[in-house]
Amino acid sequence: MHAITIPEPGGPEALVWDEVPDPEPGEGEVLIEVAASAVNRADLLQRLGYYDPPPGASPYPGLECSGRIAALGPGVSGWAVGDEVCALLSGGGYAEKVAVPAGQLLPVPTGLDVRQAAALPEVACTVWSNVFMIAHLRPGETLLVHGGSSGIGTMAIQLAKAVGAKVAVTAGSKEKLDHCAALGADILVNYREQDFVEEIKRATDGAGADVILDIMGAKYLERNVNALAVNGRLAIIGLQGGAKGELNIGVLLGKRAAISATSLRARPADEKTAIVAAVREHVWPLVAAGHVRPVIDREVPMSEAAAAHHVLEESGHVGKVLLVAP
Ligand SMILES: NC(=O)c1ccc[n+]([C@@H]2O[C@H](COP(=O)([O-])OP(=O)(O)OC[C@H]3O[C@@H](n4cnc5c(N)ncnc54)[C@H](OP(=O)(O)O)[C@@H]3O)[C@@H](O)[C@H]2O)c1
Repeated sequence: MHAITIPEPGGPEALVWDEVPDPEPGEGEVLIEVAASAVNRADLLQRLGYYDPPPGASPYPGLECSGRIAALGPGVSGWAVGDEVCALLSGGGYAEKVAVPAGQLLPVPTGLDVRQAAALPEVACTVWSNVFMIAHLRPGETLLVHGGSSGIGTMAIQLAKAVGAKVAVTAGSKEKLDHCAALGADILVNYREQDFVEEIKRATDGAGADVILDIMGAKYLERNVNALAVNGRLAIIGLQGGAKGELNIGVLLGKRAAISATSLRARPADEKTAIVAAVREHVWPLVAAGHVRPVIDREVPMSEAAAAHHVLEESGHVGKVLLVAP
């Protein structure tokens, strides 16, 4: 088969479409013939040599895919050869075939074609596990999403609105904020021109956000805690603004607030299985009903993954960039 390999870390041109051995499905795994994968920001870090695949994972990039089941490994039940699926991966999605634990499979949701489904697993699992399973966003509460027009952001806006929460977003341009508003965001903050702490306080009568989904890490730590409401929950999933921050813990204590931080890729298989099951139970019906949809910026041939990485590096997209297999 062919896959995108990274012979040497570097810029987008480090991605090479090459012939590699076919993967074999092991115990409890299925082999997927890939229709599409999607680019995640973590793939850019892996390409640069800063984010190695976890032990046992495929060396090729790609944290999600969709396609058709081509073979079942020993001990797999509930799935059949030919089923159209999408999957959360630990790597290997930028390839014509990938082996994945059966617990990380989802059916293609009703109403979507198989390629569109590749835009969902990583963002649905990340947002559901952090905003709902960890931070317990409730109807009527306010969620602040940093990077509202990102792959993650576009899913977070839709899921929070679907459960009856109010949504605030930050983004770097009016055009991107307009996209967020079209998805249902209520409070729009241009992070290049406005202070999000002031804007959230103003829009919530001084209360602040009940939950914040953060992708900036250190750079926003203090301001995020300032923007939290009493009993607020800050869920950190990205470190685009650095990993080492300083915080007045007294502010956290005074608000009885909590901070969590997780990386989905590094979580053990049984936790991923539980998250995928929760997504199938809670998110898939919202997709089938049309309340949540994949936001796809563009489709790029998988062999031209370098062009897709350029788009993410320049933040020239809204939602997800798909990589379509030949
Ligand atoms: N921990 C996990 O398990 C997990 C899983 C998936 C993703 N993530 C993280 O989630 C983030 C989004 O991932 P993605 O794949 O959806 O990436 P993406 O589409 O490339 O989005 C990156 C976003 O960062 C925003 N941004 C940059 N500087 C900002 C600032 N100062 N304030 C607010 N937003 C800013 C950009 O907004 P503009 O374009 O408007 O500038 C853009 O929306 C990444 O940090 C990624 O590593 C974590």
